[in-house]
This record gives sequence, structure tokens and C-alpha cells, in this order.
Amino acid sequence: MPSSPPPPLRCPLCGGQLALRSLAGEGARPALRCGAGHSFDAARQGYYNLLVGKGTVFEADSADMVAARFDFLEAGHYRPLADAVSDAVLARVQAGKPFTVLDSGTGTGHYLRVVLDDVKRVTDACTAVALDISKFALRRAARRNPEAISLACDVWQELPVADDAVDVVTVIFAPRNAAEFARVLNHDGRLVVVTPRAGHLASLASLTGMLSIEDQKDARLAESLAPYFLPEATRDVDIRLALTRDEMADLAFMGPAGHHLDRGALAAKLDTLEPLDEVEALFRITVFRPAGRPA
Ligand SMILES: C[S@@+](CC[C@H](N)C(=O)[O-])C[C@H]1O[C@@H](n2cnc3c(N)ncnc32)[C@H](O)[C@@H]1O
Ligand SMILES: [Zn+2]
Repeated sequence: MPSSPPPPLRCPLCGGQLALRSLAGEGARPALRCGAGHSFDAARQGYYNLLVGKGTVFEADSADMVAARFDFLEAGHYRPLADAVSDAVLARVQAGKPFTVLDSGTGTGHYLRVVLDDVKRVTDACTAVALDISKFALRRAARRNPEAISLACDVWQELPVADDAVDVVTVIFAPRNAAEFARVLNHDGRLVVVTPRAGHLASLASLTGMLSIEDQKDARLAESLAPYFLPEATRDVDIRLALTRDEMADLAFMGPAGHHLDRGALAAKLDTLEPLDEVEALFRITVFRPAGRPA
């Protein structure tokens, strides 16, 4: 049985190969080190901070937003989506063969958990790398997926991942850096992207002040990934949700609207409403292959 390949990481400072070192001594945390001596210690919660230099200016998800996402996802509402993402990944896994997956914008690591459980039934030799810029998200992700390497980094910068090293990149409601995804994927790799479709959570959005989802045309998604990727397959996943008021609040709060919603005010407003038992969550999974390569 082949063992899992080491995580294909490269140093954000010098580009050298980063290797995992377990330090001797009580209480010593593992570290990622390159040949030039750059070293990145694991945070107490198990992730590695590879953020260097000036990052993208943006508003990170708050601890409360991440907690809302964690509670909502762990209750299993989006399980059919997680299973469908996992199917798309499994299509690239061969029994007993080494397999490397990168989950970019992993959030709480919920979808990666489902993927890893499924992949491990096909091969033991699975290596997983999870990226996010939010330390609140990574704390959860590192705990949820201890067998993955969870890294704090900015997807809009060069990724701390080696060239041609990854079999599948998954990007679930997270930013897409096409050039970097193309660089890290191997010649037969695939990019699996999940986006919401027009009308996603529309009945809840109108009640809670969530941002409504515009028609994210396939052409626009493909354009954002060109010239690096070509769409290969799509699958739609529709989930009808019956929600308690708490779940409505979590769902409103876990997305971009969480940046400007006040949780207390939202809860007070929802208390005056009947719980919704027919909210439609509408997703599209698109699989892309690197452009210019044979199908
Ligand atoms: C809507 S959440 C989705 C999280 C997860 N994929 C899920 O579906 O549960 C978007 C994630 O992308 C991360 N993110 C946003 N901008 C980022 C960046 N520039 N670099 C890395 N991660 C980023 C956020 O911190 C957040 O965890
Ligand atoms: Zn280095």
C-alpha cells in the first residue's frame, strides 16, 4: 500500500520546498521548514500561518460568522451538496494510488471532511491541503481535518504550494485565482467549483437583508477562469430546507451579509416571523480542466 505523499508545499519567502518537522521536546509544536531555514510553527490550534508581506485588503469573516457557518453546516442541511462535491472529486481518484487534494477557501473544513472520508475508502495514500485567510475558520478546519495541512494564506497571492502537484482543487463559495490553481494542478488535474444559482435562498434573503444572488451566468464563471481552464461538466444540486428561526439566522449570518447584519436585531426580527419550511438552496458544481490539454 503506498503511503501518503508529503504535502507539496513551497516556502512563501524563498520558493524552496517546505517540509514538516516534528520538533523534539515536551510541548514543542511541529513546524514547516525550508532548506534556507525559514520556519513556520504550527499555531496552538494546528494550522500554519504562511501569510507574509502585504496581503489583500479585505474584511475577514468574524468569529461569529464562522460559528454560524459551522453550526449550520454541521447540522447536515447541505449534505447533498457535500456528497455531490465528493462525487466530483472521487471521479479523479484511483484505488490505492496516491491522491492530493487542495481545498481553497476551506472555511470550517466541512466539505473537505466529507471528501476525505470518501477518498480514504478508495485510497489510503491521500494528501490534503486546506487554505484560508481567516484564522477563525482555520481553527475549526484544523480540528475538523487533522490529517490535512491547514494553512493561513491569501489566495490572491502566490499559493505556498508546489507546481504540478495537486490532483483536484476544490473551491466552494470562495475566491478563485485561476493562474495559481492552474500552476499547482498536475497535467491531468481538475478544478471543482461550487457557486450559488440565481434564486438561491431567495425567500430567506427577502426577509433578512441577505444579498440576493444574481444570475451568475456560466459564461461569467468560465470567463473568470479563462484562459487557464475550460468547463468540462456541470451538475446542479437543489436542496429544499425547512428552517427554525435559529437556523434562518445562522444562514443569513454565515454569508457576506454577516458583515453588515446585527445578529441581535436579526433575531428580534425573525422572532416576529413564522419559521420557513420551503427555502430553496440552489447550487451548481462545475468541473474545469486545464486549458490547452487533451480532454
Ligand atoms: C463563503 S466562505 C466558504 C467557506 C467554505 N468553502 C464553505 O463553503 O463552507 C469563503 C471563505 O473564503 C475565505 N477567503 C476569502 N478571501 C480569501 C483570500 N483572499 N484568501 C484565502 N481565503 C479567503 C474566507 O475566509 C471564507 O472562509
Ligand atoms: Zn524559505
